[in-house]
Amino acid sequence: MKVVVSVGGSVFVPTVSAEYVRDHAAVVEELADEGRTMGIVVGGGTTAREYIGVARDLDANEMVLDELGIAATRLNARLLTAALDTSATPSPPEDYETAGAAMRRGDVPVMGGVAPAQTTDAVAAALAEYTDADLLVYATSVSGVFDADPNEADDARKFDRLTPGELVDVIADLERTAGAAAPVDLVAAKVIERAGLRTVVLDGTDPGRIADAVRRGDHDGTDVVPDGETGEPTYWAAES
Ligand code: UTP
Repeated sequence: MKVVVSVGGSVFVPTVSAEYVRDHAAVVEELADEGRTMGIVVGGGTTAREYIGVARDLDANEMVLDELGIAATRLNARLLTAALDTSATPSPPEDYETAGAAMRRGDVPVMGGVAPAQTTDAVAAALAEYTDADLLVYATSVSGVFDADPNEADDARKFDRLTPGELVDVIADLERTAGAAAPVDLVAAKVIERAGLRTVVLDGTDPGRIADAVRRGDHDGTDVVPDGETGEPTYWAAES
């Protein structure tokens, strides 16, 4: 089973602490040791936000802000790598070919950002498409895909299951609504749609939830299931 996990910066480094990093590293190692091919993408979190905020106050343009953000995501990727054993790539791969080659060797690439004008959500979807991953998991700070920002709207409704096309529509609506935060960005949703990627969006603040979702498809988040896919994937049937 081939899995790409996107660890949002806000769950990986809400504050930079050894505890969060160690707990996430332990889950990645367990899932890889059990025989899965793993690729990891790490977000920028507090570090990215602080640096981008200061540079914005300095009137830096959006390209400069994005390059700072990419640097922060790669810094976080190095932090996760520091907590992993030697199967992790020593530095964050800066393109999909290098990351894909690492996965083919059985190593675990830990990527940050790749190019301006996107986020690591899109990087994770692109890596999953490039490597023909069986499963893409977004570990975010919200518990799935909602029809509104659950931190703002008390009546926000969570979707248990969406098709990739429905995901694109929901995210496009959220991005149109001023201030609404989407757990996965529109570029990522469109890659998920065109590649037909089986995807899970879940609350990853407890990394044990990532493990349950990868091992058994067991989670309280949102399943994105490509059209025509019926029943559970065989890699989960084999585990239960
Ligand atoms: P994140 O992926 O962490 O962005 O990248 P985010 O979604 O805003 O953060 P969370 O998940 O809510 O915490 C941080 C920043 O790095 C730049 C963007 O500016 C992004 O906002 N970035 C990242 C890129 O420009 N390209 C990339 O490929 C990745």
